[in-house]
Amino acid sequence: MTIAVSTLAPIGENRPGAEWWRSAVIYQVYPRSFADANGDGMGDLAGVTAHLDDLVSLGVDAIWLSPFYPSPQNDAGYDVADYCDVDPRFGTLADFDRMLYAAHDRGIRVVVDLVPNHSSSEHEWFQAALAAGPGSPERARYLFRDGKGEHGELPPNNWVSVFGGPGWTRVPEADGTPGQWYLHLFDVTQPDFDWTNPEVHEFFKNVLRFWLDRGVDGFRVDVAHGLAKDGELPDTIISDDPSMGGGEHVAPYWGQEPVHDIYREWNAVLREYDGDRALCAEAWLPTVDETALWVRSDEMHQAFNFPYLTTKWDADDLREVISESLRAYPAVGAPATWVLSNHDVIRHATRLALTADTPRDGGIGPRTEARPIPGLGQRRARAATTLMLALPGSAYLYQGEELGLPEAVDLTDDVRQDPTWFRTNGEKYGRDGCRVPLPWTADAPAFGFNDTGASWLPQPDEWARFARDAQEDDPASTLWLYRTLLANRRQYGLGAGSIEWLSGYPSDVIAVRNGDVTVVVNLGSEPVVLPAGTLVVASEPLAGGALPADTAVWLLAG
Ligand code: GLC
Repeated sequence: MTIAVSTLAPIGENRPGAEWWRSAVIYQVYPRSFADANGDGMGDLAGVTAHLDDLVSLGVDAIWLSPFYPSPQNDAGYDVADYCDVDPRFGTLADFDRMLYAAHDRGIRVVVDLVPNHSSSEHEWFQAALAAGPGSPERARYLFRDGKGEHGELPPNNWVSVFGGPGWTRVPEADGTPGQWYLHLFDVTQPDFDWTNPEVHEFFKNVLRFWLDRGVDGFRVDVAHGLAKDGELPDTIISDDPSMGGGEHVAPYWGQEPVHDIYREWNAVLREYDGDRALCAEAWLPTVDETALWVRSDEMHQAFNFPYLTTKWDADDLREVISESLRAYPAVGAPATWVLSNHDVIRHATRLALTADTPRDGGIGPRTEARPIPGLGQRRARAATTLMLALPGSAYLYQGEELGLPEAVDLTDDVRQDPTWFRTNGEKYGRDGCRVPLPWTADAPAFGFNDTGASWLPQPDEWARFARDAQEDDPASTLWLYRTLLANRRQYGLGAGSIEWLSGYPSDVIAVRNGDVTVVVNLGSEPVVLPAGTLVVASEPLAGGALPADTAVWLLAG
């Protein structure tokens, strides 16, 4: 059903101007876990609408919503069964329109998630492909292939699923005999589209138009580095030869050249619309320079800066990735972006102080060697955000980080839902620990996530102290820190600024000036003497005018 929405509310006073995405602070709403208006234990769009004023008082410019489309929810909605509707668990299209109107009315832009690498196996196209059989146009929308071996009993190549296990699954044909195989780089219920098929291109251009017509301000594009596969579907090469990636998989599906044509096509679709609509790439690529290829001027507008997210709490490493980012993105005409947390990684209030290294995609849980060092994690996270929000460009926040939420590390095995957990037989915990529903009210069922007490993942008891209402009036809280940072970032125009590195500090100190604001971050263990100046904000109390370890400060030149 299509409702023409011509009722776009005027954007309020605080809406950033032209090319808003260049400097915007964009807050990721993970709808399942944000706020649950109907009390079924899973968040919904009405819950988002009900809390928009809290996002206004936080001071963000835009929200990005993770998928809320009809889905069997095998990968928390990243398995889409219908791209142009709302899953009843999250509400209706009318709820979406109300949310969009209410957000715009408050000056908040709305970005939605687009999942074009794969659909759900429940999508009508995939069901039609199964029914139609080998060689049919229906199968040609996905990557069906005959198997290898005498009877086609071996998969077409050695590709594996990102979530663990094989990347191919064999289907029975109409007569019940084992038949072709289909590719799924993620869960078995997430078949990959064949992006060499023009029908797939047309389909997604229409999906873009459907949401653009409703008034969305942009799209976060899921797995934006994976849509195009090497046409020959060659084996992944695993090599120790450094020139082949040094023990890394050389995967013939990440970052293939034809993927860029897709974004050129989409860029043209967005240009049919007024109002600065934007595309943001979720492209997990190892370097800033590679990521910058996704934001050349005729492609996407932003790409998540995952090289920044994955940088350790180390002054030299951070200086390097910041310099690289401020060189590489502007070199192609794009803003740098910054991000520390999202729904796929260990929350940075935990990640930045662990007792052992842990792989990005593994998650942590009761049996992992890596354990959090709680006080230190919170402290570093506050300092890290204080640095991030001083940097020019656009910054992404993940719901709950403004409360200082840690990873929920001690979820029991029986409540876990991430496909990674199942596909690795519990070897990897996966991402549930960063997806636990938000605590709004310390003294309420489900900490105010809803009023029934239901919660699709259990909230740790200790989260009462992180509840938003417990922080509202506490100037020492993380919520206050975020509000203060965001208000001053806006006041001093830091997002549109540029930085100058300051010398004269120890090597484990980062010191930069962005316009009127001097930022000093102490990653060492000794207190650092601060220059003269007026204090704007500090991530921890200062000790007699000095900057303690794992603390960051903004000063106005004295
Ligand atoms: C992206 C999403 C992640 C999802 C995957 C498959 O990485 O952020 O949550 O599982 O794509 O869609």
